Amino acid sequence: MTLSCPLLPAAYRLVLRETVGSTNDEAKELARQGAAAGTIVWAMEQTAGRGRRGRCWSSPRGNLFASLILRPACSVERAAQLGFVAGLAVADALAELAPSLGAFVCKWPNDVLARGRKIAGILMESERRTYETPAFLIVGIGVNLASAPPDTEFPATSVADEGCLPPAPEVALEAVVRHFEIWTQHWQQQGFARVREAWRARAFALGGPIRARLETAILYGRFVDIDQHGALLLETAGELRRIPAGDVFPVT
Ligand code: BTN
Repeated sequence: MTLSCPLLPAAYRLVLRETVGSTNDEAKELARQGAAAGTIVWAMEQTAGRGRRGRCWSSPRGNLFASLILRPACSVERAAQLGFVAGLAVADALAELAPSLGAFVCKWPNDVLARGRKIAGILMESERRTYETPAFLIVGIGVNLASAPPDTEFPATSVADEGCLPPAPEVALEAVVRHFEIWTQHWQQQGFARVREAWRARAFALGGPIRARLETAILYGRFVDIDQHGALLLETAGELRRIPAGDVFPVT
């Protein structure tokens, strides 16, 4: 297989692996050894790709698997906003690469949907330096370009499944990183308000009924908004609940 090396903005450095367990695990190990912010671990396939909440992430060749090491000089809570930055970057990159698929939608917290099905997911992991500040943050990005698994709880799709010619992973990586850099600059210069506004404009089910699955409960209600930290605000049983972590589903 011939692989052209992606052209990345100056602040990024690529570590290419053929096959890994999980690019997030590789990136974490490099970060512990002192790898600089902007290091990206990119693999052709993963044998133990991970999703949020311990789920497995199907990782065959032809899709994009990349994990970015960041060292944001801010609180852990603020650093979590970079998940929304990454979601917007993936949505914008896909809109550029597969314009005929129409608008890509962001599903709270960090998924990207195409035509109502999940096409990309983001796994944010961090280790703390102090209780308040992260030593590093890993932003793991998986995008279904050539294929999607058939048996997921939330239906999945890929660029190819939607009838478009899938871009090569290196082309997708280049676009995702370019848009990540653009959204990171907006976030740094204008704060989360700018990111939140763009994310809300693309949000799945905002204002409508949803099922929210938390660690220990399932709640039905209306998706009112995300707050200034990115938590979901759900109107349920006559009260407004703030949900910092969970999964969102349509009400069927
Ligand atoms: C999710 O939607 O549950 C998150 C999926 C994240 C998958 C990516 S693929 C690259 C990186 N390495 C992993 O093991 N997971 C993330």
